[in-house]
Amino acid sequence: MYKPKKNDEFDDRKVPNSENMDENSYLRLLKSKPWLYGKTSDFLYGRQGPWPQPSPAHPLGESPAVCHVPFIEQADWWLFVGSRYTATLAYSPFAFLGGILRPGLEEVSDLEFHDMLTNSMLSRFITPKLDKYDLKNFANDIESDQTYFIVDLMCVDVVEPFEGIYVSGSKTLLKEVGEEKFEVVAIYLHDSNSVFHSDDKDSWELAKYYVLQGGALAATLVVHPLLHFPFDSINAITKTILPTNHLLFKLMHPHTRFTLPLENAVLQYNSSLLQGKSWMPYAPYPGKPGGLRNLLAEGYMGVEGNDSYPGFKYPMEPQKVYGKYGTFLDRYYQVFYNFVSKVLENVSPDDYYIGQWAKHISQHLPGFPGEKEIFEGDNLVKAVTMFMWDVTVSHTVDHYNYGGMNIRKIPLRLRQEPPKQGSSTVLNRKKLTKFWDYGKYKMCQILFFRPTSVTTLPKTKYKFESGQLQEYAAKFISELKDCDELCKKEGIQYIPLKKIARAIQS
Ligand SMILES: [Fe+2]
Repeated sequence: MYKPKKNDEFDDRKVPNSENMDENSYLRLLKSKPWLYGKTSDFLYGRQGPWPQPSPAHPLGESPAVCHVPFIEQADWWLFVGSRYTATLAYSPFAFLGGILRPGLEEVSDLEFHDMLTNSMLSRFITPKLDKYDLKNFANDIESDQTYFIVDLMCVDVVEPFEGIYVSGSKTLLKEVGEEKFEVVAIYLHDSNSVFHSDDKDSWELAKYYVLQGGALAATLVVHPLLHFPFDSINAITKTILPTNHLLFKLMHPHTRFTLPLENAVLQYNSSLLQGKSWMPYAPYPGKPGGLRNLLAEGYMGVEGNDSYPGFKYPMEPQKVYGKYGTFLDRYYQVFYNFVSKVLENVSPDDYYIGQWAKHISQHLPGFPGEKEIFEGDNLVKAVTMFMWDVTVSHTVDHYNYGGMNIRKIPLRLRQEPPKQGSSTVLNRKKLTKFWDYGKYKMCQILFFRPTSVTTLPKTKYKFESGQLQEYAAKFISELKDCDELCKKEGIQYIPLKKIARAIQS
């Protein structure tokens, strides 16, 4: 009779009927079901890795969160990323001084406004879905033989602004003047229930700031978080459920570093900018934390009655982004797809680990293929490609683009009421913000909005053992470089490849 010894090799608590089993039978059993009887050391955290749970901050509104992050990951993040935050806080007095020396906002020309809405990360908000309210509000602007689009920023209405600060939902009507080319026609502000045009002088100028404020809020707290937090479930489950020698683990693991501690700090820490405390020199938002969390919930759960915000469903391919920003994103996606499909040709179509991996992720992420579905068509390739492309290109380019904007032209706080149709508006740009509004925003831009790229995408090394797979990896990097060159040549290099982070780090 064979009895396994108590050591690190096998988990003997899980050996069934060992009293009646000889050594050979037991070894055969080990071989036939390695996922049950294999070594704990086969797994990154010995089967005790991180796992998603309902978000403690907003269990019914936000995506599952990973709250128990392995100490080694926390230390790694603190050493390479977190410590920089503390050091950078020393810059605060200079940021506030900048607000004192140059108070208020800068003029945004109509051309710049058009460019910001249609040729930057704000183009993520362009939608062809005009609703009945749009048809009513813009009735005098819509010509029957033209095609119109909307920049829908109504979601920011849930912000509860601090005393003396204003926020308004808005819709901007765009007319299509060429293939994915637009002209700004009019702005509707929900707060004052008014429509403005470019000949409305100061009212128009102020309305543009409200649209841009809505863009900044919706970008950072509604849409961009969807690139972050739902993907944490994949990050954690990949680390916990797949053995480190599994091909899928080797493919995805390089794209998971630094992310879990970062997300946990943003979502759960008392020092997070989402807490919006007045003493925080880096908390620039215009309202109370409850309203800010509602923005996150709107992104994940959707806005009832508003097709522009349908709620999160795991995207099996890139969502439509109009204009050149979308072209840039799609082009990189294709490079990832080619690489992932070549690598995953090498996994068995009924791989047990992948089935379990998909089963557990799909329980946390709506729309993620389940245990059987993952093996249908190219679902596995699409699911993995989306993860890798999202946490690298799609995420970093948002930071690079928004983090590089002039914050005197895209405010988060506005201290003059939204203009009202029929009432005269006198605009004094110097009084639209206070110096601390600028200082906090500047600090936040330096600390959080600009991208962190401690490890970069083009220097990724995959621990593949076969020469063939290493060739695929080399080809992937080479195709990324070609893509970068092409984008540069066509004037749509929204971020140079060498600055794209390997994983979510900011
Ligand atoms: Fe981010």
